Amino acid sequence: MSDNVNSYARFLNSLSKGRQPSLIREMITIMSTAPPEMISMAGGMPNPKLFPFKKMTVQLKDDTTSISLSGTKMEQALQYLPTGGLPSLVSQLKTLQEEKHSLSPDVWLKNDIIVTSGSQDGLCKCLEALLEPGSSVIMEEFVYAGTLSIIEPYKPNYHVVTADTQGMRPDSLKKILSQWSPGSEDTNAPKFLYINPTGANPTGTVLSSERCQEIYKICSQYNLLILEDDPYFYLQYQDQDLRSPSFMSIDTEGRVVRFDSFSKILSSGIRLGFVTGPKPIIERINLHMQASVLHASSLSQVLVSDLMSQWGSTGFNNHIKEVEDFYKNRRNKLYEAADKHLMGLCEFSVPLGGMFLWIKVPGLGSTWDMIMQRGLQQNIMLMPGRAFQPDQTAPCQFLRAAFSIAAEKDFDTAMERLAQLIRKEISLQEHQS
Ligand SMILES: Cc1ncc(COP(=O)(O)O)c(C=O)c1O
Repeated sequence: MSDNVNSYARFLNSLSKGRQPSLIREMITIMSTAPPEMISMAGGMPNPKLFPFKKMTVQLKDDTTSISLSGTKMEQALQYLPTGGLPSLVSQLKTLQEEKHSLSPDVWLKNDIIVTSGSQDGLCKCLEALLEPGSSVIMEEFVYAGTLSIIEPYKPNYHVVTADTQGMRPDSLKKILSQWSPGSEDTNAPKFLYINPTGANPTGTVLSSERCQEIYKICSQYNLLILEDDPYFYLQYQDQDLRSPSFMSIDTEGRVVRFDSFSKILSSGIRLGFVTGPKPIIERINLHMQASVLHASSLSQVLVSDLMSQWGSTGFNNHIKEVEDFYKNRRNKLYEAADKHLMGLCEFSVPLGGMFLWIKVPGLGSTWDMIMQRGLQQNIMLMPGRAFQPDQTAPCQFLRAAFSIAAEKDFDTAMERLAQLIRKEISLQEHQS
């Protein structure tokens, strides 16, 4: 096993290494913690007295709690922030990570958190700090299409790891990596593993605990960073005692960069996510943000920080329980409908987290035309599996059905329509051959 990751420079591309801090941004960070007697003429902040918004009250759905912004708090919500995030929110997120991933508070000596515009922005900036044109990229056969759209322009060399109902297979990962010797300086050797361990999009799998440990060991042996993209962490349907640890919770070597999202639990439009990881990597994301969005929305950060302090840990956990119960119930209903109409025609397993039922149609060479042409005519919209594979031109027998938003009363009809569609498609296919 390798030592702790002690130099992050080997993971970073030259563009990222070349990013320099912006003095203006650094000044704003200093100002956010400056004593009241400080007279600042450094930052070119606009004067909030001229902002037309005076106050804002957001009533929560429990009908008893509200968040009111006025005076200096309203000004803060409308003003520039340090790139790393609203200090109170960053501190709350550190406490949350400690609680949910069993971290000791001194983890922050070497690690940090940055608030991003959704987890997508953090993921994009992290990948863009690591990738070079033609880089080797290791991922599962089917991955979140938003990750592919970040990676694709680099025309990477994909190494596809096999997965099953328990997620990524360590034996397959090991086999792929065995073409390099551990510690290899070969520039074609992969530098990171991308993994979406909980309620994976699109497959719905949750990586088992044993596999998580094994994959961590393999990444340690080959000195890979682990990019843990985990927006469905708070949408898990197994009992608490059966849940797997996160990679971050077992990381002793500083090789995990974790991406969390508020999209699935608070609001997707509020655009907040956060990245937790080794300081040198978070710093590169920060410097990229200093040159792009400057920081994630102040208004969103103030709202979420206020919400978290009103809720406290109990309120947050109660909300998560409600979210999980809601989606679990929907998962069960869609599964029931699929079981009723698709048995014998399709293969699928119970998703243990997330929002998706991943369905294989063994009788078809590809689901693309069926979904994109005839499905739309029959008023059923699904995602063809091809959208989630690195080679988006290769035929794919899978499709993804989301159980998050369609009306539950329509689940049965949807699966019935899908079954009819598949039967017709199979006969069409037989006709053509
Ligand atoms: C696996 C995965 N990663 C990242 C994201 C991006 O989420 P966010 O809304 O936080 O940017 C999504 C969104 O669906 C996702 O499914």
